[in-house]
Amino acid sequence: MSDATIEEFYREERTFPPSEEFKAQALVTDDSLYEEAAKDFEGFWARQARELLTWFDDFETVLEWDLPYAKWFVEGKLNVSYNCLDRHVEAGRGDKVAYYWEGEPGDTRTITYSELLDEVSRFANVLKGLGLERGDRIAIYMPMIPELPIAMLACTRIGVAHSVIFGGFSPDSIVDRVHDGEARAVVTADAGNRRGAPSALKPNVDIALRDCPTVEHVVVVNRCDTDIEMVDGRDHWYHDLMAEASPDCPPEHMDSEDLLYLLYTSGTTAKPKGIMHTTGGYLTQVAFTQKYVFDLHADTDIYWCAADIGWVTGHSYIVYGPLAIGCTSIIYEGTPDTPGKDRLWDIVERYGVTQLYTAPTAIRTFMKWGEQEPARHDLSSIKLLGTVGEPINPEAWMWYHNNIGGGRCPIVDTWWQTETGAQMISPLPGVTPTKPGSGCFPLPGIGAEVVDKSGRPVEVGGGYLTLTTPWPAMLRGIWGDPERYFKTYWSEYEGRYFAGDGAKVDEDGYFWLLGRVDDVMNVSGHRISTTEVESALVDHDAVAEAAVVGATDATTGQAIIGYCILVSGVEASDELGEELRRHVSTKLGPIARPKTVILVPDLPKTRSGKIMRRLLRDVAEGRELGDTTTLADASVVEEIRHRAETHEED
Ligand code: WTA
Repeated sequence: MSDATIEEFYREERTFPPSEEFKAQALVTDDSLYEEAAKDFEGFWARQARELLTWFDDFETVLEWDLPYAKWFVEGKLNVSYNCLDRHVEAGRGDKVAYYWEGEPGDTRTITYSELLDEVSRFANVLKGLGLERGDRIAIYMPMIPELPIAMLACTRIGVAHSVIFGGFSPDSIVDRVHDGEARAVVTADAGNRRGAPSALKPNVDIALRDCPTVEHVVVVNRCDTDIEMVDGRDHWYHDLMAEASPDCPPEHMDSEDLLYLLYTSGTTAKPKGIMHTTGGYLTQVAFTQKYVFDLHADTDIYWCAADIGWVTGHSYIVYGPLAIGCTSIIYEGTPDTPGKDRLWDIVERYGVTQLYTAPTAIRTFMKWGEQEPARHDLSSIKLLGTVGEPINPEAWMWYHNNIGGGRCPIVDTWWQTETGAQMISPLPGVTPTKPGSGCFPLPGIGAEVVDKSGRPVEVGGGYLTLTTPWPAMLRGIWGDPERYFKTYWSEYEGRYFAGDGAKVDEDGYFWLLGRVDDVMNVSGHRISTTEVESALVDHDAVAEAAVVGATDATTGQAIIGYCILVSGVEASDELGEELRRHVSTKLGPIARPKTVILVPDLPKTRSGKIMRRLLRDVAEGRELGDTTTLADASVVEEIRHRAETHEED
């Protein structure tokens, strides 16, 4: 095989059709949505937009497409907060719970749709009172407390775009984002609770704002009662302003293509990109996927997306999706190991969670902690599981399926990106027989194809994942940088969107995501995906998590170096390292056998839990570390470097 594509080695024979029990209650159980969308994808999305959303003025044209610029639901007028709140209250569902919120220390709040509407309207008036107007932008830097979605929704009510900055980021990241978006205000909190202690936020804002001349006001929620400085004239307590604000704030009639928010996604090295999302198309696709991918029965289900609202997953599937559909969901403030490693399972049991959406990195951590943690709780309320953020290794999928889903729940492995705004490739849980590790098929109304280096579609085998048709929630650009927008996403393959993921298609047409193409390894001319080798390592009983990289090698071009975290209770030894190398060889063939397997206590990850293979390559090639600013815990790499060095001496 040439080096034009990514080769495939991993074979997965298991399939899991939806159970009869699941199908009996599922919203969709046949191919009708796929068929409808295949005939006329614009008509399909127009129907969803009209059925799922309430428009002040109906749209005239479904789609205007002038590559790379799309306009969806042209001339349509709507308001996101109206769709998420008012219309449910107007329909008599004001007393329905919107959020069960649980603080890390154990304090709780139950917020109904009418209470949420009241607070959102008040905060919208607060923002107006500070001089913010339609077309402005503000930054939001907050912990996972109810005031975070309240602030976001308040923005949408008055046509201010938000730029949420993940609460774990440093002052520098705040400066970059505030500057780039020219934010006029910042909403924050003194601190948030993490791992049993307050983690400071406002002090970071203070440092950042020394360099942010556009910011006129800072609104501060008092979450942890920590001692912070308040700058006269600039800083205001949230509770003071809210006490005086009117709960009456009519929603602005926004254009379908008005900017809804900016969300920055860090390129691995370059300056973060301000991904632009607009109003009508975004909300349509988010609402559609929320309902059909999670098979959400808004009247009865208790849905939980255990991500952080600071990421796109939280924007789309904690805030806008669940509220647009009008369901009840959970927000949890803290970490999954506080006070014990069963915190998530305790929450699932107490609230009777029906759908749980989390990331492979979390699932592999739960694997490492052991199955006794979930086993202590009754998880029988769960009927569906979801995953997002990275390829899920088949063994992690099986662990999730058995230990959390009790072997009975469909798993929706959802591929999408900050740029796509909403889920793109995923099973439909009442329809699709799933295969562990596969995202299965493009959703109805979505066009995706795997292509080879020259852009020709690959029928069966590996290549590059591209999107072939515009979709409603697609990014509308990179804030302030149209050239970079075209170059990054639309220039590689003519007429197609390409955002850097490798993928393969199997004989049944299933899509398998193979990780970032930058990570693909080239061993003696064979292009091998990191994902497949990692999955083969995780397939071994002793391994909870694995990362592999290609390090420069004099004979083979690159050699595969594996880093593995063992499940708790398993002892590290050189023999085990050897056994793992053999295991990969048996699963995938000798070409994919790692040259070395190093057993490590932890792996370098971004704040959102993605493994930073670039740093592992630096370690493997004995280089100085590149940019480590997005690393969640910098000490991890030093420990790995140490293990790697002692390994070489052995
Ligand atoms: C990866 C998160 C495999 C992929 C919503 C993508 C996945 C990047 C999956 C986007 C999945 C996300 N299977 N890989 N189910 N979901 N990815 O912008 O590499 O934080 O390009 O958006 O995560 O990450 P982002």
